[in-house]
Amino acid sequence: LSEETEQMLSAYEWLTKLYHHLIKYQKDGKDGLEYLKSRGITKETMEEFQLGYAPDKRDFTTTFLTQKGYSKPMLLKTGIVAGNDNNEVIDRFRGRVIFPIRNALGRTVGFGGRALQEDSGPKYLNSSEGELFQKSKLLYNFDLAKRHIRKENEAVLMEGYMDVISAYQAGVKNVVATMGTALTETQAKLLNRYAETVVICFDGDSAGIEARYKAALLLRSVGCGVRIANLDAEEDPDTYVREHGGEAFKEKILRTSDSYMSFFMRYQRRHFNLQVESERIEYIERVLKELSLIESALEREYYIQELHKEFGLSHEALMSQLAQHQKRLP
Ligand code: UTP
Ligand code: MN
Ligand code: MN
Ligand code: MN
Ligand code: MN
Repeated sequence: LSEETEQMLSAYEWLTKLYHHLIKYQKDGKDGLEYLKSRGITKETMEEFQLGYAPDKRDFTTTFLTQKGYSKPMLLKTGIVAGNDNNEVIDRFRGRVIFPIRNALGRTVGFGGRALQEDSGPKYLNSSEGELFQKSKLLYNFDLAKRHIRKENEAVLMEGYMDVISAYQAGVKNVVATMGTALTETQAKLLNRYAETVVICFDGDSAGIEARYKAALLLRSVGCGVRIANLDAEEDPDTYVREHGGEAFKEKILRTSDSYMSFFMRYQRRHFNLQVESERIEYIERVLKELSLIESALEREYYIQELHKEFGLSHEALMSQLAQHQKRLP
Protein backbone atom coordinates (compact mmCIF):
# COMPACT_ATOMS: atom_id res chain seq x y z
CA LEU A 1 0.00 0.00 0.00
CA SER A 2 1.20 3.50 -0.82
CA GLU A 3 1.91 5.88 2.00
CA GLU A 4 -1.06 7.96 0.96
CA THR A 5 -3.39 4.97 1.15
CA GLU A 6 -2.08 4.12 4.59
CA GLN A 7 -2.78 7.70 5.66
CA MET A 8 -6.32 7.55 4.35
CA LEU A 9 -6.89 4.26 6.15
CA SER A 10 -5.54 5.71 9.36
CA ALA A 11 -7.95 8.64 9.12
CA TYR A 12 -10.82 6.14 8.93
CA GLU A 13 -9.37 4.22 11.83
CA TRP A 14 -9.20 7.29 14.04
CA LEU A 15 -12.71 8.32 13.17
CA THR A 16 -14.16 4.86 13.64
CA LYS A 17 -12.74 4.87 17.16
CA LEU A 18 -13.89 8.40 17.87
CA TYR A 19 -17.48 7.89 16.70
CA HIS A 20 -17.68 4.59 18.52
CA HIS A 21 -16.30 6.12 21.69
CA LEU A 22 -18.94 8.84 21.54
CA ILE A 23 -21.77 6.39 21.27
CA LYS A 24 -20.41 4.31 24.11
CA TYR A 25 -19.42 6.87 26.66
CA GLN A 26 -20.34 10.42 25.73
CA LYS A 27 -23.28 12.76 25.99
CA ASP A 28 -22.54 13.79 22.40
CA GLY A 29 -23.33 10.27 21.27
CA LYS A 30 -26.49 9.73 23.27
CA ASP A 31 -28.92 10.31 20.37
CA GLY A 32 -27.13 7.65 18.36
CA LEU A 33 -27.13 5.22 21.25
CA GLU A 34 -30.86 5.70 21.85
CA TYR A 35 -31.53 5.22 18.18
CA LEU A 36 -29.67 1.93 17.93
CA LYS A 37 -31.21 0.66 21.16
CA SER A 38 -34.64 1.51 19.81
CA ARG A 39 -33.83 -0.73 16.86
CA GLY A 40 -32.88 -3.61 19.10
CA ILE A 41 -29.12 -3.46 18.69
CA THR A 42 -27.19 -4.64 21.74
CA LYS A 43 -24.02 -3.11 23.17
CA GLU A 44 -22.06 -6.20 22.10
CA THR A 45 -23.23 -5.80 18.52
CA MET A 46 -22.36 -2.09 18.55
CA GLU A 47 -18.90 -3.16 19.66
CA GLU A 48 -18.52 -5.91 17.08
CA PHE A 49 -19.56 -3.64 14.20
CA GLN A 50 -17.86 -0.59 15.71
CA LEU A 51 -21.06 1.41 15.30
CA GLY A 52 -20.80 5.05 16.17
CA TYR A 53 -22.35 8.48 16.09
CA ALA A 54 -21.25 11.65 14.34
CA PRO A 55 -22.57 14.66 16.27
CA ASP A 56 -24.68 17.30 14.58
CA LYS A 57 -21.93 19.90 14.22
CA ARG A 58 -20.46 21.60 11.20
CA ASP A 59 -16.82 20.88 11.81
CA PHE A 60 -16.52 18.32 14.58
CA THR A 61 -14.84 15.77 12.33
CA THR A 62 -12.79 18.12 10.19
CA THR A 63 -11.40 19.86 13.28
CA PHE A 64 -10.51 16.54 14.87
CA LEU A 65 -8.72 15.27 11.78
CA THR A 66 -7.01 18.56 11.01
CA GLN A 67 -5.63 18.59 14.55
CA LYS A 68 -4.33 15.10 13.90
CA GLY A 69 -2.34 16.57 11.03
CA TYR A 70 -4.35 15.50 8.00
CA SER A 71 -4.39 18.00 5.14
CA LYS A 72 -7.60 19.21 3.50
CA PRO A 73 -6.87 17.65 0.08
CA MET A 74 -6.13 14.37 1.83
CA LEU A 75 -9.40 14.50 3.74
CA LEU A 76 -11.35 15.24 0.57
CA LYS A 77 -9.74 12.27 -1.08
CA THR A 78 -10.89 9.91 1.67
CA GLY A 79 -14.51 10.88 1.02
CA ILE A 80 -15.08 11.41 4.75
CA VAL A 81 -15.71 15.12 4.50
CA ALA A 82 -17.36 17.39 1.98
CA GLY A 83 -15.91 20.41 0.21
CA ASN A 84 -17.87 23.63 -0.15
CA ASP A 85 -17.67 26.42 -2.71
CA ASN A 86 -15.27 28.46 -0.61
CA ASN A 87 -12.61 25.78 -0.79
CA GLU A 88 -13.28 24.74 2.77
CA VAL A 89 -13.94 21.29 4.06
CA ILE A 90 -17.01 20.64 6.19
CA ASP A 91 -18.33 17.55 7.89
CA ARG A 92 -20.26 15.18 5.66
CA PHE A 93 -21.75 13.14 8.49
CA ARG A 94 -23.74 15.27 10.93
CA GLY A 95 -26.19 13.88 13.41
CA ARG A 96 -25.95 10.40 11.92
CA VAL A 97 -25.38 6.90 13.19
CA ILE A 98 -22.18 5.65 11.62
CA PHE A 99 -21.72 2.22 10.07
CA PRO A 100 -18.06 1.63 9.30
CA ILE A 101 -17.71 -0.24 6.01
CA ARG A 102 -14.77 -2.63 6.13
CA ASN A 103 -12.90 -4.23 3.27
CA ALA A 104 -12.24 -7.98 3.11
CA LEU A 105 -9.25 -7.53 5.44
CA GLY A 106 -11.34 -5.78 8.07
CA ARG A 107 -10.06 -2.27 7.52
CA THR A 108 -12.55 0.57 7.37
CA VAL A 109 -12.63 2.13 3.92
CA GLY A 110 -15.88 4.05 4.12
CA PHE A 111 -18.83 5.05 6.26
CA GLY A 112 -22.55 4.76 5.90
CA GLY A 113 -24.41 7.29 8.01
CA ARG A 114 -28.07 7.02 8.92
CA ALA A 115 -30.26 9.98 9.71
CA LEU A 116 -32.14 9.66 13.00
CA GLN A 117 -35.36 11.18 11.65
CA GLU A 118 -37.32 10.89 8.47
CA ASP A 119 -37.03 14.60 7.69
CA SER A 120 -33.27 15.10 8.08
CA GLY A 121 -32.18 14.65 4.49
CA PRO A 122 -31.38 11.39 2.72
CA LYS A 123 -31.91 8.30 4.91
CA TYR A 124 -28.35 7.12 4.37
CA LEU A 125 -25.32 9.06 3.28
CA ASN A 126 -22.16 7.20 2.36
CA SER A 127 -18.56 8.27 1.97
CA SER A 128 -18.01 9.60 -1.52
CA GLU A 129 -16.61 7.16 -4.04
CA GLY A 130 -12.91 7.32 -4.64
CA GLU A 131 -9.72 5.35 -4.65
CA LEU A 132 -10.45 3.93 -1.22
CA PHE A 133 -14.21 3.57 -1.13
CA GLN A 134 -15.67 1.67 -4.07
CA LYS A 135 -19.11 0.36 -3.29
CA SER A 136 -19.19 -1.82 -6.40
CA LYS A 137 -16.23 -3.86 -5.16
CA LEU A 138 -17.25 -4.20 -1.54
CA LEU A 139 -19.79 -6.30 0.24
CA TYR A 140 -20.82 -5.04 3.64
CA ASN A 141 -19.65 -7.42 6.41
CA PHE A 142 -17.71 -9.73 4.09
CA ASP A 143 -14.72 -9.76 6.45
CA LEU A 144 -16.73 -11.12 9.39
CA ALA A 145 -18.97 -13.37 7.30
CA LYS A 146 -16.43 -15.05 5.05
CA ARG A 147 -15.43 -17.90 7.32
CA HIS A 148 -19.09 -18.68 8.01
CA ILE A 149 -19.85 -18.51 4.30
CA ARG A 150 -17.07 -20.98 3.59
CA LYS A 151 -18.09 -23.30 6.40
CA GLU A 152 -21.74 -23.40 5.36
CA ASN A 153 -20.91 -23.28 1.66
CA GLU A 154 -23.64 -20.70 1.45
CA ALA A 155 -23.89 -16.93 1.60
CA VAL A 156 -26.96 -14.88 2.40
CA LEU A 157 -27.10 -11.69 0.40
CA MET A 158 -29.11 -8.73 1.74
CA GLU A 159 -29.63 -5.09 0.83
CA GLY A 160 -28.63 -3.07 3.81
CA TYR A 161 -26.58 -2.41 6.91
CA MET A 162 -29.36 -3.04 9.40
CA ASP A 163 -30.44 -6.26 7.68
CA VAL A 164 -26.97 -7.72 8.07
CA ILE A 165 -26.48 -6.49 11.61
CA SER A 166 -29.84 -7.78 12.86
CA ALA A 167 -29.35 -11.17 11.24
CA TYR A 168 -25.79 -11.46 12.52
CA GLN A 169 -26.88 -10.53 16.01
CA ALA A 170 -29.59 -13.20 15.84
CA GLY A 171 -27.06 -15.88 14.93
CA VAL A 172 -27.23 -15.88 11.14
CA LYS A 173 -23.59 -15.09 10.45
CA ASN A 174 -23.00 -15.86 6.77
CA VAL A 175 -24.62 -12.55 5.80
CA VAL A 176 -23.39 -9.74 3.56
CA ALA A 177 -25.07 -6.77 1.85
CA THR A 178 -24.77 -4.86 -1.40
CA MET A 179 -25.58 -1.55 0.34
CA GLY A 180 -28.56 -0.79 -1.84
CA THR A 181 -26.98 -0.76 -5.29
CA ALA A 182 -27.26 -3.45 -7.95
CA LEU A 183 -25.04 -6.47 -7.44
CA THR A 184 -21.90 -6.24 -9.59
CA GLU A 185 -19.91 -8.93 -11.35
CA THR A 186 -16.97 -8.35 -9.01
CA GLN A 187 -19.21 -9.03 -6.01
CA ALA A 188 -20.83 -12.04 -7.64
CA LYS A 189 -17.46 -13.60 -8.43
CA LEU A 190 -16.24 -12.99 -4.92
CA LEU A 191 -19.25 -14.80 -3.46
CA ASN A 192 -18.85 -17.63 -5.95
CA ARG A 193 -15.30 -18.21 -4.73
CA TYR A 194 -16.52 -18.82 -1.19
CA ALA A 195 -19.82 -20.63 -1.59
CA GLU A 196 -21.69 -22.91 -3.92
CA THR A 197 -24.99 -21.17 -3.24
CA VAL A 198 -26.08 -17.64 -2.55
CA VAL A 199 -29.47 -17.08 -0.98
CA ILE A 200 -30.73 -13.75 -2.23
CA CYS A 201 -32.68 -12.17 0.58
CA PHE A 202 -33.73 -8.72 -0.56
CA ASP A 203 -36.59 -6.56 0.66
CA GLY A 204 -40.17 -7.57 -0.10
CA ASP A 205 -41.01 -4.33 -1.95
CA SER A 206 -41.03 -4.13 -5.76
CA ALA A 207 -37.56 -2.62 -5.89
CA GLY A 208 -36.36 -5.64 -3.93
CA ILE A 209 -38.16 -8.06 -6.25
CA GLU A 210 -36.67 -6.53 -9.40
CA ALA A 211 -33.22 -6.52 -7.78
CA ARG A 212 -33.61 -10.23 -6.91
CA TYR A 213 -34.12 -11.08 -10.54
CA LYS A 214 -31.07 -9.14 -11.72
CA ALA A 215 -28.89 -10.52 -8.95
CA ALA A 216 -30.02 -14.08 -9.68
CA LEU A 217 -29.14 -13.75 -13.38
CA LEU A 218 -25.74 -12.30 -12.59
CA LEU A 219 -24.87 -14.91 -10.00
CA ARG A 220 -25.89 -17.71 -12.35
CA SER A 221 -23.84 -16.16 -15.14
CA VAL A 222 -20.70 -16.48 -13.02
CA GLY A 223 -21.56 -20.09 -12.23
CA CYS A 224 -23.00 -19.62 -8.77
CA GLY A 225 -26.08 -21.47 -7.54
CA VAL A 226 -28.89 -19.30 -6.22
CA ARG A 227 -31.96 -19.54 -4.10
CA ILE A 228 -34.33 -16.67 -3.56
CA ALA A 229 -36.02 -15.89 -0.27
CA ASN A 230 -39.52 -14.50 -0.03
CA LEU A 231 -40.48 -11.72 2.32
CA ASP A 232 -43.83 -9.97 2.60
CA ALA A 233 -44.14 -6.71 0.70
CA GLU A 234 -43.60 -4.51 3.73
CA GLU A 235 -40.81 -6.61 5.23
CA ASP A 236 -37.05 -6.63 5.02
CA PRO A 237 -34.68 -9.09 6.75
CA ASP A 238 -34.22 -6.68 9.65
CA THR A 239 -37.92 -6.28 10.39
CA TYR A 240 -38.46 -10.02 9.99
CA VAL A 241 -35.66 -10.97 12.37
CA ARG A 242 -36.77 -8.41 14.92
CA GLU A 243 -40.29 -9.69 14.87
CA HIS A 244 -39.71 -13.43 14.58
CA GLY A 245 -36.11 -14.09 15.64
CA GLY A 246 -33.10 -15.76 14.05
CA GLU A 247 -34.33 -19.35 14.22
CA ALA A 248 -37.58 -18.48 12.44
CA PHE A 249 -35.55 -16.61 9.87
CA LYS A 250 -33.49 -19.73 9.20
CA GLU A 251 -36.42 -22.12 9.18
CA LYS A 252 -39.15 -20.05 7.57
CA ILE A 253 -37.22 -17.76 5.27
CA LEU A 254 -33.88 -19.31 4.33
CA ARG A 255 -34.93 -22.92 4.36
CA THR A 256 -38.09 -22.32 2.34
CA SER A 257 -36.40 -20.05 -0.18
CA ASP A 258 -37.23 -20.71 -3.84
CA SER A 259 -35.06 -22.52 -6.34
CA TYR A 260 -34.13 -20.35 -9.28
CA MET A 261 -36.84 -21.90 -11.46
CA SER A 262 -39.62 -21.49 -8.87
CA PHE A 263 -38.58 -17.91 -8.38
CA PHE A 264 -38.48 -17.36 -12.12
CA MET A 265 -42.06 -18.62 -12.49
CA ARG A 266 -43.24 -16.54 -9.56
CA TYR A 267 -41.44 -13.50 -10.95
CA GLN A 268 -42.82 -13.89 -14.48
CA ARG A 269 -46.35 -14.20 -13.13
CA ARG A 270 -46.09 -10.58 -12.07
CA HIS A 271 -45.73 -9.62 -15.72
CA PHE A 272 -48.44 -11.75 -17.30
CA ASN A 273 -52.16 -11.78 -16.70
CA LEU A 274 -52.89 -15.48 -16.56
CA GLN A 275 -56.63 -14.87 -16.85
CA VAL A 276 -56.04 -13.84 -20.46
CA GLU A 277 -55.54 -16.83 -22.73
CA SER A 278 -52.89 -15.31 -25.00
CA GLU A 279 -50.85 -14.20 -22.02
CA ARG A 280 -51.24 -17.59 -20.41
CA ILE A 281 -49.66 -19.16 -23.48
CA GLU A 282 -46.90 -16.54 -23.57
CA TYR A 283 -46.17 -17.28 -19.95
CA ILE A 284 -45.91 -21.02 -20.55
CA GLU A 285 -43.61 -20.39 -23.52
CA ARG A 286 -41.42 -18.11 -21.43
CA VAL A 287 -41.16 -20.70 -18.68
CA LEU A 288 -40.34 -23.50 -21.14
CA LYS A 289 -37.63 -21.38 -22.71
CA GLU A 290 -36.05 -20.77 -19.33
CA LEU A 291 -36.48 -24.41 -18.42
CA SER A 292 -34.54 -25.44 -21.52
CA LEU A 293 -31.49 -23.80 -19.93
CA ILE A 294 -31.72 -25.91 -16.78
CA GLU A 295 -29.11 -28.66 -16.77
CA SER A 296 -30.77 -31.19 -14.53
CA ALA A 297 -33.19 -33.48 -16.38
CA LEU A 298 -34.88 -34.24 -13.11
CA GLU A 299 -35.47 -30.58 -12.40
CA ARG A 300 -36.84 -30.03 -15.93
CA GLU A 301 -39.21 -32.94 -15.49
CA TYR A 302 -40.35 -31.59 -12.14
CA TYR A 303 -41.40 -28.22 -13.56
CA ILE A 304 -42.96 -29.78 -16.66
CA GLN A 305 -45.12 -31.67 -14.22
CA GLU A 306 -45.99 -28.42 -12.44
CA LEU A 307 -47.07 -26.82 -15.72
CA HIS A 308 -49.03 -29.91 -16.60
CA LYS A 309 -50.88 -29.74 -13.30
CA GLU A 310 -51.57 -26.04 -13.44
CA PHE A 311 -52.58 -25.63 -17.08
CA GLY A 312 -53.81 -29.10 -17.98
CA LEU A 313 -51.53 -29.35 -21.01
CA SER A 314 -50.33 -32.79 -21.93
CA HIS A 315 -46.95 -33.94 -20.83
CA GLU A 316 -46.07 -34.73 -24.46
CA ALA A 317 -46.95 -31.29 -25.76
CA LEU A 318 -44.90 -29.61 -23.04
CA MET A 319 -41.92 -31.91 -23.60
CA SER A 320 -41.93 -31.43 -27.35
CA GLN A 321 -42.06 -27.66 -27.00
CA LEU A 322 -39.24 -27.83 -24.48
CA ALA A 323 -37.23 -29.86 -26.99
CA GLN A 324 -37.78 -27.12 -29.60
CA HIS A 325 -36.20 -24.61 -27.25
CA GLN A 326 -33.33 -26.92 -26.46
CA LYS A 327 -32.57 -27.34 -30.18
CA ARG A 328 -32.18 -23.58 -30.46
CA LEU A 329 -29.49 -23.55 -27.82
CA PRO A 330 -26.00 -22.75 -29.06
P1 UTP B 1 -33.37 0.50 2.29
O1 UTP B 1 -34.11 1.66 1.79
O2 UTP B 1 -34.00 -0.85 2.17
O3 UTP B 1 -32.97 0.83 3.77
O4 UTP B 1 -31.96 0.50 1.55
P2 UTP B 1 -32.77 -0.15 5.03
O5 UTP B 1 -31.46 -0.84 4.88
O6 UTP B 1 -33.99 -0.98 5.20
O7 UTP B 1 -32.62 0.95 6.15
P3 UTP B 1 -33.43 1.15 7.50
O8 UTP B 1 -33.88 -0.17 8.00
O9 UTP B 1 -34.58 2.06 7.18
O10 UTP B 1 -32.43 1.82 8.39
C1 UTP B 1 -31.06 -0.57 1.58
C2 UTP B 1 -29.65 -0.05 1.62
O11 UTP B 1 -29.43 0.85 0.55
C3 UTP B 1 -28.50 1.85 0.92
C4 UTP B 1 -28.08 1.52 2.35
O12 UTP B 1 -26.92 0.72 2.30
C5 UTP B 1 -29.27 0.74 2.87
O13 UTP B 1 -28.92 -0.08 3.97
N1 UTP B 1 -29.12 3.20 0.87
C6 UTP B 1 -30.47 3.35 1.10
C7 UTP B 1 -28.34 4.29 0.65
O14 UTP B 1 -27.11 4.19 0.45
N2 UTP B 1 -28.93 5.54 0.65
C8 UTP B 1 -30.26 5.71 0.91
O15 UTP B 1 -30.74 6.88 0.96
C9 UTP B 1 -31.05 4.58 1.11
MN1 MN C 1 -34.91 -1.66 0.16
MN1 MN D 1 -34.77 -2.33 3.65
MN1 MN E 1 -34.82 -1.77 6.98
MN1 MN F 1 -44.03 -11.05 9.55
